[in-house]
Parts: sequence; structure tokens; C-alpha cells
Amino acid sequence: MRRKVSVIGAGNVGATLAQYIVMDGIADVVLYDIVEGMPQGKALDILEATPLYNVSSSIEGVNDLERIEGSDIVVITAGAARKPGMSRDDLLNTNASVVRTVSKAIKQYCADPIVIVVTNPMDVMAQLCWIETGFPTHRVMGMGGILDSARFRTFVAEATGVSVKDVEALVLGGHGDQMVPLPRFTTVRGVSIIHLLSEDRIRALIERTRNGGAEIVSLLKTGSAYYAPAASTYQMVKSILLDEKRFLPAAAYLDGQYGIKGLFVGVPVVLGKDGIERVVELSLSDEEKEGFYRSVDAVRALVEKLT
Ligand code: NAI
Ligand code: 2OP
Repeated sequence: MRRKVSVIGAGNVGATLAQYIVMDGIADVVLYDIVEGMPQGKALDILEATPLYNVSSSIEGVNDLERIEGSDIVVITAGAARKPGMSRDDLLNTNASVVRTVSKAIKQYCADPIVIVVTNPMDVMAQLCWIETGFPTHRVMGMGGILDSARFRTFVAEATGVSVKDVEALVLGGHGDQMVPLPRFTTVRGVSIIHLLSEDRIRALIERTRNGGAEIVSLLKTGSAYYAPAASTYQMVKSILLDEKRFLPAAAYLDGQYGIKGLFVGVPVVLGKDGIERVVELSLSDEEKEGFYRSVDAVRALVEKLT
């Protein structure tokens, strides 16, 4: 049977994600937005490229949430994006009402989907989506850590003069200004960057990673990053649909892991057909723990503002 992925929000991230999914032929896509005609136009444009990709996936643009019925995966990208000078957290109230509305619809039309939340502030929106849907915790998650790690990988590759293919990186915590890039777990072919780069250089790369989203916002001036965010979300969609069991950072519900209970925050997980199949607990140094808990506190403070 063909798999169905619904993308809520046909803006920059949503439409680019839809294109990646269709291009690979791994699922049929429903692309939903409140703006009339826009998701239909983008979907038709993507569909007309399928003969060129040589794939038989279908895509349909809709303004009616009922059409997401029966989705295997629903991705939430609806809501406002940052403008220059704004932090992700400034989007809290505007996007909370959007995420509340669409989460209720997902619960109404989809029996047992896996939901990936992208809308910012993402960790808080994942928490909100879980509260509104009441879905099992392993079936709701947020995308942030893959993007932050991809940015860190890019900057490390540049600094060490090697291919990004040989660089792995890990960024934990909330997808916000307090995110925690971890140099000890960031490697070039298994060699930690603490053996390859000076402390000052690493500190600068960490700072650039934390500001990675803002760097793009300040260049674009209208809107925020979407190619890398869509590619990061696609990696999660693919790992679930193909049951790849990728080891990836994602915002997951913590039920005592890392000493945290009842909060969505970025940690390494194993992602397969059932969603988050395992949260991986790393043994963190005192300094790493300090950064991680600072980031967790920032997410918790924002969740408290919400309720
Ligand atoms: P965009 O402005 O291009 O698209 C947002 C879309 O949401 C628009 O088409 C708008 O019409 C639609 N929308 C608004 N209210 C809606 C509703 N009630 N129902 C359905 N659609 C609705 O923004 P973009 O760049 O696609 O970003 C989307 C969200 O994703 C933003 O909140 C952004 O901050 C976030 N984001 C998160 C990332 C992450 O790593 N978690 C990375 C990149 C973006
Ligand atoms: C980013 O990191 C805006 O969260 C988005 O680019």
C-alpha cells in the first residue's frame, strides 16, 4: 500500500519538504495551507516535475484539513517564520494558536499517525501538539537537532578542510539560542574535533552554529532558512517510512531520561516505523550537563508561558 505524508503549511519549509518526498518517490503527499490556491499551485508544479524525476508519487494541494485523513505521517510547518531581529521564542503566541488548531484536526482525521513538528519555537510546539492530540509520546516529535548538527558539520568541515561526508556532529538541547553543540561527540572519521581544532576555534564554531538560523534570516531579510530545514525533516520522514532506525537528534518526550520528566527536548533517538523507538542516554561531562540543563530550563520556561 502507498504511504501518505501530509504536510501542514505549504510555505518555504513545507513545499520544499513536499518536493523532497515526491522526488524520492517514497510516499504520496497532501500539502495543506490556509491560503487558497497556493498549495494547489505548488502541488501541481511539483507533480509536473515527477516525469522528470521518473517517480510515480502523487501530490495534492488542499485547503481542507479533512484531506489529511489516514496519513501515516503528518508534518507541521504552519505558522509564522522569524524576521530579522526576532528570536524563535518571539513566535510563541502566534504559532501556538496555529499548532493548537492543526493538532486538533490531526487528532480528528488521523487515527494513529506519527507527527513531526517543525514550527517554532519547536520544542514547545511539539509539547503543545502532544498535549492537544494526546497521541502516545513516541509518535510525536520535533525537528531541530538534525538541522543544528548539519550546520555544525558544515562549519567543522570548512574549518578542518575535509569533506562534510567525513564529519559527524551532535547538537542537543532545545532548538533555540541555548542549544548545545557537543565537540566531544563531533568527529572527523571518529576523531573528536577536540584533537583537531583549538579551543578558540571550536568556541567560534559553536557560536556560529547557535546563530545559524539568525545568520540566514539576516541575509534573507524576509523569512528564514528552508532548504536545510526541509532536508533535515526529510531525513526523519525517510527513517520512519523505511524503518531505517537512524540514530538522530530530535525533540522527544523525556520520561525520566537525563533526569527530566514530562518535557520535549532535543536528545539522540532511534527513529523507525513506530516513531521514536528509543531515547539514547549519553554520559555527559559536568560542563556538557550544565549547558544541556540551561537549554532545558529555557524550554521549560517557555512551556510555562504557554499554559
Ligand atoms: P512560511 O511563512 O514560508 O510558511 C508558513 C506557512 O504556514 C504559510 O504558507 C502560511 O500560510 C501557513 N499557515 C499559517 N497559518 C496556518 C494555519 N492555521 N494552517 C495552515 N497553514 C498555515 O514559513 P517557513 O519558512 O516555511 O517556516 C515555517 C515554520 O517553521 C516557522 O515557524 C519557522 O520558524 C519554522 N522553522 C523551524 C525550523 C526548525 O528547525 N524547527 C527550521 C526552519 C523553520
Ligand atoms: C532555523 O534554525 C528558523 O529555526 C529556524 O533556521
